[in-house]
This record gives sequence, structure tokens and C-alpha cells, in this order.
Amino acid sequence: MAKILVTGGCGYIGAHTIVDLIENGFDVISIDDNSRSTPYLLEGIEKITGKKVKNYKVNLCNFDETQAVFAEHPDITGIIHFAAYKAVGESVEKPMLYFENNIFSLINLLKCTSEFKVPYFVFSSSCTVYGSPDAMPVTEQSPIKPAESPYGLTKQMGEQFIEEIAKLGETKCILLRYFNPVGAHPSTLIGELPLGKPANLVPAITQFAIGKIANMQVHGTDYPTKDGSCVRDYIHVCDISHAHTLAVQYLMESRNKSNCDVFNLGTGNGVTVFEAIEAFERVSGIKLNYGKGPRRPGDVVAIYANNSKAITELKWEIKYNLDAMMKTAWDWELRLKNDETIFAQQNAVLN
Ligand code: WQD
Repeated sequence: MAKILVTGGCGYIGAHTIVDLIENGFDVISIDDNSRSTPYLLEGIEKITGKKVKNYKVNLCNFDETQAVFAEHPDITGIIHFAAYKAVGESVEKPMLYFENNIFSLINLLKCTSEFKVPYFVFSSSCTVYGSPDAMPVTEQSPIKPAESPYGLTKQMGEQFIEEIAKLGETKCILLRYFNPVGAHPSTLIGELPLGKPANLVPAITQFAIGKIANMQVHGTDYPTKDGSCVRDYIHVCDISHAHTLAVQYLMESRNKSNCDVFNLGTGNGVTVFEAIEAFERVSGIKLNYGKGPRRPGDVVAIYANNSKAITELKWEIKYNLDAMMKTAWDWELRLKNDETIFAQQNAVLN
């Protein structure tokens, strides 16, 4: 059974990917320092898969502790690297925190990848690397424009480091550029757990709908789009996570076209903020009394993917539509409502 190291395994996309890897016959270990997560999702993984996944509570910026995990597991076949800070707004306020955490951790991981001759490396990247695209939909060949935030810059730098390392030929790499991951596992046993007030749209919608936050605003209604609000490519987290399993299988079967292949992970559908809200109202039966506010600095007007490369080369199929994204996000929020455990665990991280 091939062993995969998932960094950030206690996080939103990491946890969903671990479930998908286990369901596809992989053995999985995790490294997550729980600085932005809790062990809560590991419990959900065990309930879904029956497997207790070991998490090493290690900060990847600590090389010795990271190296010790690799020494304990010299049979790691592949690494899927999620662990990073990812709040666009926070990165603008604290750029050095993002450069230090996101870049130092990646460098340590790549050093261990080389030292322990790990054959495969999959990097969690983001459509943010495209900046504000001129032409839509974006393909993997679309120009990489100046990053709109320090967060986006760390993703661009991460990709460049990995592309250079891949040229050595020791490790085959894949860069996966997510568009907007949303939704939750249909079991409602794992999902998104934003720490503090959510910055992202869908958790803001569900927390506003359930009364966890007192208000919610549409950031900007005067954009040059069909209804004045921004356009994004929302993609279900389970579709995103399965693409990681397919990426590892693609590498293990030597189907890669180069030592560092890049794939867009989006549905190819551009959805406005108002359309996303309407989809939520449709599936939940709840009318949202949201406000309309000014544009949010750093937002691009519109971005959505050309996903044909992932569909043809990774054999990726998208299983969840916008209504299913909203339905699973809402079902997860409803289940969280009565779960005191998570609030205690999140407060422990926040305080
Ligand atoms: C989507 C739209 C907001 C909240 C970011 C990162 C990206 C990825 C996903 C990590 C925008 C609007 C939001 C609200 C709103 N992160 N909005 N009211 O900014 O497209 O992408 O998160 O991988 O890399 O860049 O996602 O959900 O924050 O915003 O109107 O309360 O919803 O202005 O137009 P974004 P988002």
C-alpha cells in the first residue's frame, strides 16, 4: 500500500484529500502543527474511513522535527503539500509572517524530499497565481501576472521553487491550481472550519444564515459583470480532493508529460456572488438579508478555469454542481451548530 504524506492534514482540503486517498487504497500520514487547525477533522476522517490517521504535530519550519518524521517513514511514496497560511487579507497586513511560514516550510519539505528520495510531490497552488487575468477562461498557459497579495506571491514563488527542483529529475512534481474550494463531505463529518470570522464567501453565507455572525455584505456591486458582483469558479472540495488522488496515480503510472505538470482545478463555470447567494437560498429555503458594501481591496473582477487539461490527462470528472456545493456546506453548518467539541477546540487555538 503506497504511503502518502499529507501536510496540513487537519485542514479543510487536506482532510478531504486524506479521505479520498484512503478510499483509493493509499496509506496516509499527516504533518500539521495545528496552528490554524484542530484534531477535530481527524476524528471525522476516522468515522468516514475507519482508519485512524497519525498526525505529527510538527511545524514544517522546524527542519529537524520535519526530518525526524521522514526518518521514521523512509517509505513515503508521495507528498501532498497543503500546509500554508492562506488568508489574503491577513497576508497584506503581515507579509513577513506569510513569507516566513509559507516559504521556509516549503524549503524544508523540499530538502527532506531530496534527502529521502521521495519520488512524487504534489503542490497545493491557487488560481491566485494568475493575478487579474486579461482573457477568460484561464488556461495553464495563461500569463502569470504580478501577485495581488503576499499570499499569492508565496504561491507563485512556491511554484517556481518546485519547477526548479523538478529539473533535477529526482522527484516528479505536479502543481494543482485550485479555483474556489467550497462545500463539505456529504457525510457532514468533515468540512470547512474557519478560525474566527470567515473571510471566504460560502462560510460567511452559512454562518450568517445560522446566526453565528450578525451580518454579511456583498463586497462590491458595481463591477463590470452581469449583475455587478465578482465572478468566481466555485468547485466542490470533494472534487478538488479526488483530483489529488488522480494526480498521484498519474505520476505513479508515469503518465506525466514533464517533471512538473500544472493543472487548473475549477468547474469552468463563472458564478457571481449574487448567483452563489441565490443558490444557497434555493437549497436552504432561507432568504438572506445581506448588505451591499464597497469593493474589497485585492479582489479580481472575474476568474474562472479552462479545466480541460485536468479532465483529459488526470481523467478527472466533476461530480458536484453549485446547488450541491451549497447544500453540503449548509448541512455541515447545521451539524456543527450542536457540536460543542469544535468550539472548545477552536477557542483553544484562537486564545
Ligand atoms: C469570493 C467572492 C468576495 C465574502 C480566496 C483566495 C484563494 C482561495 C479562496 C486559498 C469575492 C466575495 C466574500 C463575503 C463577499 N484561498 N465575498 N462577501 O477571494 O476569490 O479567493 O479564497 O486557496 O486563493 O484568493 O474567495 O470566498 O474570499 O471571495 O462578497 O462576506 O466573494 O469579495 O468577490 P477569493 P472569497
